[in-house]
Amino acid sequence: MCGIVGYVGSQQAAPFLLQGLKKLEYRGYDSAGICELNGTLRIHKTRGRIADLESLLATEKIVGTIGIGHTRWATHGSPSDHNAHPHFDCTGNLAVVHNGIIENYQGLRQQLIAEGHCFLSETDTEVVSHLVEKHYQGDLLTAVAQAIVELKGSFAIAVLAKDSPGELVVVRQDSPLVVGLGNQENYLASDIPAILDYTRNVYILEDGEIARIKENSVDVFDMKLNLLEKTVFEVKWDPIQAEKEGYADFMLKEIHEQPKAVRDTIAGRMDEHGNLLIEREIPRNLVAGITKVQFIACGTAYHASLYGKHVLEEFLDVPIETDLASEYRYKRVKADQNTLLIVISQSGETADTLGAMRLAKAKGARVLAITNVVGSTLSREADAVMYTHAGPEIAVASTKAYTTQLACLCMIATYLKEQVSGEKEITLLQALANIPEQIESVLLAHEHRLEKYARRLLHATDAFFLGRGLDYASAMEGQLKLKEISYIHGEALAGGELKHGTLALIVAEVPVIALLTQETLIDKMVSNLKEVKARGGNILLLAQSNSGDFSDVGDEILLLPQTHCLLAPLLTVVPMQVLAYYAAKVRNCDVDKPRNLAKSVTVE
Ligand code: F6R
Repeated sequence: MCGIVGYVGSQQAAPFLLQGLKKLEYRGYDSAGICELNGTLRIHKTRGRIADLESLLATEKIVGTIGIGHTRWATHGSPSDHNAHPHFDCTGNLAVVHNGIIENYQGLRQQLIAEGHCFLSETDTEVVSHLVEKHYQGDLLTAVAQAIVELKGSFAIAVLAKDSPGELVVVRQDSPLVVGLGNQENYLASDIPAILDYTRNVYILEDGEIARIKENSVDVFDMKLNLLEKTVFEVKWDPIQAEKEGYADFMLKEIHEQPKAVRDTIAGRMDEHGNLLIEREIPRNLVAGITKVQFIACGTAYHASLYGKHVLEEFLDVPIETDLASEYRYKRVKADQNTLLIVISQSGETADTLGAMRLAKAKGARVLAITNVVGSTLSREADAVMYTHAGPEIAVASTKAYTTQLACLCMIATYLKEQVSGEKEITLLQALANIPEQIESVLLAHEHRLEKYARRLLHATDAFFLGRGLDYASAMEGQLKLKEISYIHGEALAGGELKHGTLALIVAEVPVIALLTQETLIDKMVSNLKEVKARGGNILLLAQSNSGDFSDVGDEILLLPQTHCLLAPLLTVVPMQVLAYYAAKVRNCDVDKPRNLAKSVTVE
């Protein structure tokens, strides 16, 4: 999740590049840069926001009429001047900007270094500049086409060459790119908002398409460089809609981004045979000889830790504990050098989480962080980091951060099992690879039904979320989503606990969201649901597709794709997010900015 812009025309490129980057700043904002061609290629880039880039440019004379720009959300390499895009090749003849993740960059980097290339950054992007350089023999289009054959992963790339003045070559694979069509000038952007003030006519590039953009022409080719006929698409969105890519709210957009976010998070971390490739991120010595695992986190991240605890308990014999960071800070810390402390935080800046981590670290604990923000305080203070590649999460309510945290936890648990017992968990990882597609199918099959069901919650004051085992951990996240954005009181309960008190609140038509994905617990849960039914509660039931007939207990039944039972939470959470979203909408709540809440809680 970064932003790309480009310009070719008769005007100076810099004003469009800067304005376009500002429009894309919501996609990434830890560093930014532009490259303009004016006889020679000149790169101007800096850590920080677009305003910092603007200050840098204030003292420069920028007159080039062709250029590319980038605003970054770091994935490989911390936010810094040298990791900011664009990136040169060795000769300074080529400059490259890139969105996405090059999964095989490590291997390519080693190979290119062995061939004599010199790298100046830690990014995956820089392999692209050197690969294009390797293939460049005077024709930029051919060089780019040959280079991308060697890339694995997702990418939107724009390349500018000193020796090919007057043209930009761009390519897309699993990461968006649009070419804006102007009069004697053409524009490039990763996202439509960047170009709306300039043109509404665009070519939307498809995966595997390469475009050569000049002042008076735009040619689009397939990977084999056959010329394609493209249809001009007229954009009718207003600028705000465009930022949300047509979705009504960032939260809904982010719910729909989950297939890609999970795909990006697992990309490059396991091969097609289900082997894990995460030893570089989590060195063996970090986990060797551990006698205890502790999790700390807050809010949604804490709910992810409940998932982590459950999965690790299945795989390891050592004690696994989880604590709310705000509680951990004020109890006797029982961590030592053999404790692996797994700290989960989307922002990496949550005050309680950092405070708790420092206490455990002071006792000698080895800290493994799961965070979404490269360069965050947590990532800097931890001994090892596994990043969720969810991209910036803008809505206050966490959605894609949670599912990507679960994906990381699943890989970490499998890795720990491998390290401790030597046993692999190939079936689990193979099932994880299918999760992105399955989330897509859940949204497709159930979003509309949930939107309708949410109308029942217009006047609801309470809703109960029931589950046993892992489903209970998911229920915790479901209730939090509902209450934080719709202001309906939500409560999660382990199925067996119902009759110990809360059953008193189950009366006619009370909404009960029931999770039934854990095979060994289904009969027990069905008994609990009968207790609810007998009191008139209205049950929305989420179950895996082949686990039985629940028509006698569920008033509304949503069948989810079949997956490994340890992965069911990655699917059950999606309908609960969607339900919370539409419940908030029918109640006219501000979904993206719920009252009293902030995205990053940097105070205690
Ligand atoms: C809920 C939510 C919060 C955060 C919590 C921790 O949707 O977003 O509960 O999960 O404030 O934040 P991070 O993960 O940034 O430490």
